[in-house]
Amino acid sequence: MSKLDKVFPENFLWGGAIAANQAEGAWNVDGKGPSIADVSRGGIISGVSDMAVDPTKFYASHEAIDFYHRYKEDVALFAEMGFTLFRTSIAWSRIFPKGDEDAPNEAGLQFYDDLFDELLHHGIQPMITISHYETPLHLANEYGGWENEKLITFFNRYCEVIFNRYKEKVKYWMTFNEVNNMHKIPFATGACRIEEGPDRLQRLYQASHNLLVANAHAVRLGKEIMPQNQVGCMLSLSAFYPNTCHPDDVFEAYEFRRRSLFYSDVMLRGHYPAYAYRIWDENNIKLNIRPGELELIRDHTCAFLAFSYYLSSTHKAGMPILSSTGGSRGIDNPYLEKTNYGWTIDPKGLRYVCNELYDRYEKPLFIVENGYGGIDEISEDGKIHDPYRVDYVKKHLIEIQEAILDGCEILGYAYWGPIDIVSAGTGEMRKRYGFIYVDRDNDGNGTLERIKKDSFDWYKEVIETNGRSLFE
Ligand code: BG6
Repeated sequence: MSKLDKVFPENFLWGGAIAANQAEGAWNVDGKGPSIADVSRGGIISGVSDMAVDPTKFYASHEAIDFYHRYKEDVALFAEMGFTLFRTSIAWSRIFPKGDEDAPNEAGLQFYDDLFDELLHHGIQPMITISHYETPLHLANEYGGWENEKLITFFNRYCEVIFNRYKEKVKYWMTFNEVNNMHKIPFATGACRIEEGPDRLQRLYQASHNLLVANAHAVRLGKEIMPQNQVGCMLSLSAFYPNTCHPDDVFEAYEFRRRSLFYSDVMLRGHYPAYAYRIWDENNIKLNIRPGELELIRDHTCAFLAFSYYLSSTHKAGMPILSSTGGSRGIDNPYLEKTNYGWTIDPKGLRYVCNELYDRYEKPLFIVENGYGGIDEISEDGKIHDPYRVDYVKKHLIEIQEAILDGCEILGYAYWGPIDIVSAGTGEMRKRYGFIYVDRDNDGNGTLERIKKDSFDWYKEVIETNGRSLFE
């Protein structure tokens, strides 16, 4: 067989990804404390949040799709599709309800034991995000989130507990979901309420430093407690293009891209990149770096780079950056179509990003989020026909295959939201990604029944043939 044959590597991992707060529900069951997602309305990414749960308001995460109680049924459906990988997060506030306790909550630990056993029983490897936009609320309210270095200690304790508990069950771990979103959505990423103001950048970089130190500690603890497993980092890395070949557009787009890659540069190369010092100088930023922290970052770099990829965006010099999609407001790419949520569809951008990242780091890549979020309708025949989703995934998988041929080492693909879950960006159920439909609406009505969409059988065949069906 030629190296250029259109096949995926034999050990390529296929599956899907969710986050605890978008799926589990049971927000206050079995000792779980509230997380920052549990006080967010309109989606954790939207940044609209209360200080405490207000019983008169509706919060989508409180019940979500009740994965907490229905995971067996859902895992069986994932197994039917042939998943070999399932990414989810551990809800930190199930394990440490407030975040600063000395001892963990056994009922929370038991839930994940049961979930991982169920997955392993079906031959599905769990892959874990340690913190996915769901920091315990108490750590945000009482400590100011990741601006406070005490969170490093609490996070270390949490990592120690879960690494020891699940080291025989979970091989792949990721520290912070989309950690490079710290500047755009500091509440979701860092549990920090940082408003506009003269000290904004100082605060964002200090909180980022604390996250980067915590990441290095997690890698260190991972090596000590479970040397057979791997701890990686996770970034949002949709593609980013200059609007024209004007050198100002090109360079400014490059600079913005580096603000994201700043995080992976530190976590994979083990030091602050040269360009960071100019940003800090020009903005009068003085980081509080404690003794030993730079050495820790140097000595404990991540084993792989996991990332989300949904779209590409375009930047024009001098224009402000949009927070949700990353590009400049009002600047469209005339070569690309969009989903009905306005997200560009750019499969080749995924090949571009894989190459960009592999060229830069030469570390294994994991695509742990990619998917089509849109509005699905139940047809008169009672089925959900979603050819747009099949088309989207097919084109992206073909470009991943191309990236593999380009020489990128890609360990696996976890489709985002293989079952409908609450949207992190809008808080809706209406924005659906799933191969499996869940009967629930934006206001919490519905039976929660699970229904296979047309894409279910299609994805099953892709996995069954290890991607060969994409080329038939
Ligand atoms: C990523 C997040 O940014 O995008 C997920 O890691 C999120 O939590 C996903 O759900 C898709 O975004 P949305 O807004 O469509 O849910």
